Amino acid sequence: MVYRMIFNQEAYFGRGAIKEIPDVAKAHGFTKAFIVTDPVLLETGTVTKVTDVLDAAGMPYEIFSNVKPNPPVECIQDGVEKFRSAGADFMIGLGGGSPQDTCKGIGIIAANPEFADVLSLEGTAATKNPSVPIFGVPTTAGTASETTINYVVTDTAAKRKFVAVDPHDIPLVAFVDPDLTDTMPRGLKVATGLDALTHAIEGFVTPGAWELSNCLSLQTIRMIAHNLAKSAEGDVEAGEQMAYASYITGMAYSNVGLGLVHGMAHALGGLLGVAHGVANGILLAPVMEYNKDFTGEKYRSIAHAFGDPDSYTKPLDEVREEAVQKIHQLTVDLGNPTTISEVGAKESDIDGLTDNAFKDVCTGGNPRKPTRQEIHAIYESLM
Ligand SMILES: NC(=O)c1ccc[n+]([C@@H]2O[C@H](COP(=O)([O-])OP(=O)(O)OC[C@H]3O[C@@H](n4cnc5c(N)ncnc54)[C@H](O)[C@@H]3O)[C@@H](O)[C@H]2O)c1
Ligand SMILES: [Fe+2]
Repeated sequence: MVYRMIFNQEAYFGRGAIKEIPDVAKAHGFTKAFIVTDPVLLETGTVTKVTDVLDAAGMPYEIFSNVKPNPPVECIQDGVEKFRSAGADFMIGLGGGSPQDTCKGIGIIAANPEFADVLSLEGTAATKNPSVPIFGVPTTAGTASETTINYVVTDTAAKRKFVAVDPHDIPLVAFVDPDLTDTMPRGLKVATGLDALTHAIEGFVTPGAWELSNCLSLQTIRMIAHNLAKSAEGDVEAGEQMAYASYITGMAYSNVGLGLVHGMAHALGGLLGVAHGVANGILLAPVMEYNKDFTGEKYRSIAHAFGDPDSYTKPLDEVREEAVQKIHQLTVDLGNPTTISEVGAKESDIDGLTDNAFKDVCTGGNPRKPTRQEIHAIYESLM
């Protein structure tokens, strides 16, 4: 067995990490930045934190701030045009997953114009050239787009999200600066934290997992167990740990894959616009329950991370159920919805959701191979 692991070439962590951007850019010979971000981050001053650093260093830039959550194909196409007229030689993906993923799509198409329709990038498209160099700067603690080889796009016409997996899109450098994630409101900390936890758990139990990815995934399950609730209540130290946990688990799942929670969450995001982390939070415990007999001893470590010191000696069936219950309880305690009707799903949506979840790239990483009927039944049980 041979394992492929792809990471950023360089990464900076800690409060003030964004101050390194100009020197790192100059060291690479870059002269002008194209910043991809969203209107909220522009209005609330997060973008200024980065542009102040660039201004002080005399580094020119242009800002593209039209990114919408669950970014649509059209947003990437708009960004490609703006990038071409900007005369920039590198990009800064500044935001949560939506701006960072849009940045990847723009960078890929700018370097591979034959994929200008965006839709043809679904799955593992055969792009020939690396993206325009990207600096990934997260402002949420969940997606880890700054270190992954994936980006997620909404096909607006078909009302579905799709995943592009392409080593050519990995940001060259990541800057994980908790000063940028502190400003998240409570609901966003919860949603993105549940996304990170889902990455950690799905990346831990996927058949592609191995010793190196397990180190990363399990450590982040522990970090999230200790810090997510505290971070949601405004503890900035815990928030800092969540920013690192998101990145660390991204190093694993980006390389080994995810599972059915993500496949089913993408379907909800595409059809109903449900925030990605909220959708994951609804689905994580029910899919863990569905998967539990296909996870070897791994739920012992999850139960242990969530506070059971005896999880390695209890009967396996008992501890598997306990792990599921602990995750369910966490989502309840955090106030995340626990049903899909709470986020607007109707009975008549379930067939379409099932079709999209069944063919989602992430579903292939699930430890138990689901049938359409089983996916349908999970959605049905969450009405
Ligand atoms: N590329 C990947 O590997 C990957 C992995 C998981 C998810 N995703 C995708 O990422 C997207 C979700 O990203 P997300 O959950 O980070 O949210 P997001 O980027 O969609 O942002 C959600 C909202 O939060 C606001 N926001 C972001 N940072 C903030 C801050 N610090 N303070 C205040 N407000 C802030 C944004 O302006 C926006 O309004 C989805 O499309 C999802 O499918 C990508
Ligand atoms: Fe995710």
